[in-house]
Amino acid sequence: MNRISLAAGTASLLMLLVLAACGDTRTAAPTSDNSTPAAPMTTTDPHSYANFDQVAVSHLSLDIDVDFERSVLDGTASLTLTHHADATELVLDTRDLDIHAVRLDDAKDAVDFTLAPADGYLGAALRIPITSDTRIVHVDYTSQPQAAAVQWLSPQLTSGGEHPFLFTQSQAILARTWVPIQDTPGVRFTYDATVRVPSKLMALMSAENPTEKSADGAYTFSMPQAIPSYLLALAVGDLEFRSIGEDTGVYAEPDVVDAAAWEFADTQDMIDRVEPLYGPYRWGRYDILVLPPSFPFGGMENPRLTFATPTILAGDRSLVALVAHELAHSWSGNLTTNANWNDFWLNEGFTVYLERRIMEEIAGEDYAAMLATLGWQDLDHTLAGLPTRDTHLRLDLAGRDPDDGMTDVAYEKGNFFLRTIEEEVGRERFDAFLRKWFDDNAFKAVTTDGFITAITNDLLSEAEADAIDLTAWIDGPGIPAGAYIPSSDAFTQVDAALTSWQDGTPAAELATDKWTTHEWLHFLRGLPETLDIDQMDQLDQAFGFNATGNSEIKHAWLHHVIANNWEPGYDALERFLIDQGRRKFLKPLYERLATTPDGKDRADKIYEQARGGYHPVSVGTIDTILGWQG
Ligand code: BES
Ligand code: ZN
Repeated sequence: MNRISLAAGTASLLMLLVLAACGDTRTAAPTSDNSTPAAPMTTTDPHSYANFDQVAVSHLSLDIDVDFERSVLDGTASLTLTHHADATELVLDTRDLDIHAVRLDDAKDAVDFTLAPADGYLGAALRIPITSDTRIVHVDYTSQPQAAAVQWLSPQLTSGGEHPFLFTQSQAILARTWVPIQDTPGVRFTYDATVRVPSKLMALMSAENPTEKSADGAYTFSMPQAIPSYLLALAVGDLEFRSIGEDTGVYAEPDVVDAAAWEFADTQDMIDRVEPLYGPYRWGRYDILVLPPSFPFGGMENPRLTFATPTILAGDRSLVALVAHELAHSWSGNLTTNANWNDFWLNEGFTVYLERRIMEEIAGEDYAAMLATLGWQDLDHTLAGLPTRDTHLRLDLAGRDPDDGMTDVAYEKGNFFLRTIEEEVGRERFDAFLRKWFDDNAFKAVTTDGFITAITNDLLSEAEADAIDLTAWIDGPGIPAGAYIPSSDAFTQVDAALTSWQDGTPAAELATDKWTTHEWLHFLRGLPETLDIDQMDQLDQAFGFNATGNSEIKHAWLHHVIANNWEPGYDALERFLIDQGRRKFLKPLYERLATTPDGKDRADKIYEQARGGYHPVSVGTIDTILGWQG
């Protein structure tokens, strides 16, 4: 395999030219921002057409108009190149983009480019002839209204109800639907942007952000740290800012922003506690943008500006582990990035591990143990439904949508792998290893092979490596023997309550008054599959599940509503499926409905009303579940 290191978007052109002249195309020397040599970076990515082994984008300059009338982004992407002397073309990823013209450097005349036929989720390769002298390629383009990364929300879908809203979701391979780019996590670039929006709206990006609206709707952004394309992000709406700490704040619509500021008050503390463990926060500010409820994920770690669902605004700060998670990505993922989506566990498994460590710091061991136990249950459930090959940490997703690999295996098996290593070597040694891993690989792409090399060189003795059995974890199915298994004393008490209820104690008499969200989730998961109408009535009367404003509890409860065909719960189900678009909640509920003919009918009717309000990411998933494609 042809390998070359273009780490951190800072590899100097001169160096590459020298290397190319020497005929050595395999590795480059240390990058300027970091004293350690760059690990050879993989230059293959089954989900990108980009020829980044020959020429790589080191800077993006974006100049776009946000046109709410036509639901398109329209403008120019100027890409600065770092390349070999012999590169004769630049291949970019695009999907559903109209390419109008391509110009090189200062030339006024356009060059002939070719746009290959589109191939499903991979999109269409854009081939641009260049020479060794080409420094900047300008691409004039327009996105299409159905761009899969972008949701264009009418005012009714916002909290204020007056202004339209737009947000993007680029991970995993959707950046190419709104910017022509080398859409692979193996390439990093800095960026700047000029974005023009209607004058009453604020624009935000994964970059240095404004805190006030501009008078004329024009915004400029700069992102001095090199990022992979999947971290490109844009949001536009009627937004306000509140500071919540020294280097942290929240953005949201005016009637949500104060609740958000209250809910996320612990954020600065999280940053302050994670830095001594895993090294400095290298991104300047850390802000959180609370999106309208159609945001398809819980959170997205867009650098400097985490995007978050409003469904974690529980009013009691009980769902802020999600903030810890997205913040943790500032080390695992954003700083040290999976080289391609086969190694997704290096992003998410590490992040779940860090998330739980942060929560242990700020909320204590018992709290972290509850999170870990719920995670273990999720993993157990996921493994039962997956083909064996998808239960490995290292995946081979060539020919498949990277979404297929984005399961709890990467998150929770990844986390429990790291937790098992921690048990074996002790926390102090493991933390030192992690700290070195992030320092050595800051602003670089990493592979599973690179991880194995690092952990065997820097941490594990042979005996320890044997005890853990790295191969079983990485390339074997399910959960290997000897895995660390979490347990929670708080949940033991919940189990006792469950037993007592099944033995006849009325629900209202159970000792639940000190329970927090996580105990309730364990309780709901522990209920028998089959409950009769009286039992459902009794549970709802005692605990008010049907009316709860806590999205996680509601979601867990609605499973019982469907499973037991509990008529009084269907209004709440319908509201929940229409009022928010978080895929993690939608998918299992629609799937469960679709298991019976009556349920499928109900699902179709609800989806008819809800579909127009979902982000394309959720639409794609639910279309498949209900057979609505085409
Ligand atoms: N990076 C992910 C979200 C993601 C993954 C988007 C894959 C697209 C493709 C984010 O960090 C994440 O994991 N979010 C979770 C929350 C977390 C607490 C587990 C989510 O959205 O549920
Ligand atoms: Zn994550």
